[in-house]
Amino acid sequence: MTKAIILSGGWGTRLRPLTCSLPKTLIPVVNVPVVERQITLLRSIGVKEIVLAVSVMSEYLKGYFGDGSSLGIKIHYTNEENPMGTAGALKLAEYYLRDDNFFLLNGDEIINFNFKEMLEFHENVNATVTIASKTVEDTSRYGVLIVNGETNRIDRFLEKEEYNPPKDMIVPMPVNAGVYIFEPEVFDQIAPKKKLSIERDVFPILAREGCLYNYSLKGMWKDIGTPLDLLEGNILLMKSLIEETAGKEENIIATSVQFEGNTTIIPPITIGEHVIVRYGCKLGPNAVIGDNSYLEKNAMIKNSIINNKVFIGENSIVEKAIVADNCRLEENVELKGNENALVILGSSVHVLKNIRLISPKDQHITYCHHEVVRRSID
Ligand code: GDD
Ligand code: MG
Repeated sequence: MTKAIILSGGWGTRLRPLTCSLPKTLIPVVNVPVVERQITLLRSIGVKEIVLAVSVMSEYLKGYFGDGSSLGIKIHYTNEENPMGTAGALKLAEYYLRDDNFFLLNGDEIINFNFKEMLEFHENVNATVTIASKTVEDTSRYGVLIVNGETNRIDRFLEKEEYNPPKDMIVPMPVNAGVYIFEPEVFDQIAPKKKLSIERDVFPILAREGCLYNYSLKGMWKDIGTPLDLLEGNILLMKSLIEETAGKEENIIATSVQFEGNTTIIPPITIGEHVIVRYGCKLGPNAVIGDNSYLEKNAMIKNSIINNKVFIGENSIVEKAIVADNCRLEENVELKGNENALVILGSSVHVLKNIRLISPKDQHITYCHHEVVRRSID
């Protein structure tokens, strides 16, 4: 096993406006693009070649990763003019993957678990495909696995909407985590040049043939399908990375960060490279701040993600919000989301001074890239 493919070509519509100017898989989680974290994880278990199956905004991904040499790995690209579906995209990569088993990842999953153990499991049970799963209560946005508890064989694979238990029978179920190991013979099941889905067109057949297996992952997994998932995923990953330091750190703060003084930090927080934190800022809990950002005096940030090159003005407050690259908040700005609804600023949004954006109970407040916010919502 030295190869992998990462599906990186969906539209990411539920993450707009963040995905208006960036493909979903380049969205940072704890300051590193989600797909870059996957690539480094794959490299750490000996994967040497990766196919990125790209389509929407492919030029951004090619520009960011190039041939992979900066990450010490070989990257190939398959290009779909229009998205070909997950199986259609996989089929295009047959040329690169025909000779050995390989990992296949949905590029929008935050993952921090033991891939080696999954590979050992796959080889022990002699599976054609192994699906990593996590047991969750709300299965509605995931493919559901009906598993034989003794053998771990998957008897049925039910993609979203196909699993509808009666209301009084709802129990936590293992769901597809979008991380698989494939044997190359699966290519024979996929017709070329057709828009096809792995989940709807391939897995049900393999389940019937009895060669689809479930691996219950132990560790961190979260998809970034929606803004709330993205915020939660950042926090979970930050905690998981801090846990790995075995008590040595309670935050992740780059050494190049400059603190002017009197900063209050409530862990956990992450601050990227070359950030300037002026006097009296209050940071955390659960704040992720990207590279080259600038926090003016008495800025307050909690339960939020601030990406790169963001300016937060004096006395401004950011809570339950996602602020993309290059945004500028003037002084006394207040962004306040809640448990179910965030404030989300696309890249290069400019919020004028004294503006208050307070989310209504169940609806995100969103601004597209380059908008200027002149009026409060509160
Ligand atoms: N190249 C390419 N072409 N990639 C695609 C295409 C396509 O036509 N369609 C989707 N992708 C990529 C997306 O970019 C994403 O990385 C991955 O395939 C999965 O697509 P999503 O659109 O994010 O699917 P989902 O989140 O609704 O459901 C999938 O993931 C769940 C786990 O998060 C399914 O695999 C579910 O069964 C699973 O539970
Ligand atoms: Mg997804």
